[in-house]
Amino acid sequence: MTGWKIPPPKRPTKTEEELRKEREKKLRWLVKHGYLRSERIKNAMLKVKREDFVPDAYRDYTYLEVPLPLPGEEATISCPHSYPLFYESLGLDRGDKFLEIGLGSGYGTALAREIVGSNGLVVSIEIDQLTFEFARRNLENAGYRYVVLVKGDGGFGYPELSPYDKICMTAVCNGIPSPLLEQLRTGGRLIAPVRKPWKDVQDLVMFEKSERGVKAEVICQVLYVSLRGSYG
Ligand SMILES: C[S@@+](CC[C@H](N)C(=O)[O-])C[C@H]1O[C@@H](n2cnc3c(N)ncnc32)[C@H](O)[C@@H]1O
Repeated sequence: MTGWKIPPPKRPTKTEEELRKEREKKLRWLVKHGYLRSERIKNAMLKVKREDFVPDAYRDYTYLEVPLPLPGEEATISCPHSYPLFYESLGLDRGDKFLEIGLGSGYGTALAREIVGSNGLVVSIEIDQLTFEFARRNLENAGYRYVVLVKGDGGFGYPELSPYDKICMTAVCNGIPSPLLEQLRTGGRLIAPVRKPWKDVQDLVMFEKSERGVKAEVICQVLYVSLRGSYG
């Protein structure tokens, strides 16, 4: 992981109460900086304990604005602000059918599950076996059973449950894999970090699919791990 200063692994010392206070403080910070705006996403971020998705050796750093390493090859839990950044931009809402490429820790999946509610659907795909097992355990321990977890190459999406209202890629690609655009409902939105040719920076891009085609809008610059597999 280049570009981020990751703190060294250590034995966890913080209590649940200390982490709860840090979570509330982080939420106030996210609101103040304009990342977090809607009640439904705020409630989800208040409810889901991010520390339950972070490896013990990094647990004390749960609420720092850095991505933290996960078991597996090049996997991370993204920094806290990236979740409201993605989900507010997508307009993720009650009843949505949501597809996530890059399950990672399972934290983003748990948040999405809270946001879409019981009439919605959450599908998440992870390519790395070790990371997949880590996320599956985290979600199970945190009580999230109504999520569809798929071990495979997310570039191909998951056509069995398509079309999706919203799709989120959490690894940087050179261009959006065509199966994902095909599996996006007309009127739906897809958000993804996209590499710029010959440059180190990446754009976070929102794609909107309509009858007339796909419109793209750059939201900001980001730094994500690379998409692996056939479309990497
Ligand atoms: C930034 S991390 C994901 C963060 C995650 N959303 C979370 O909340 O922890 C990106 C993840 O994408 C996974 N990944 C990379 N290429 C993939 C692919 N083709 N299909 C599915 N997952 C992929 C990586 O293994 C890694 O776990």
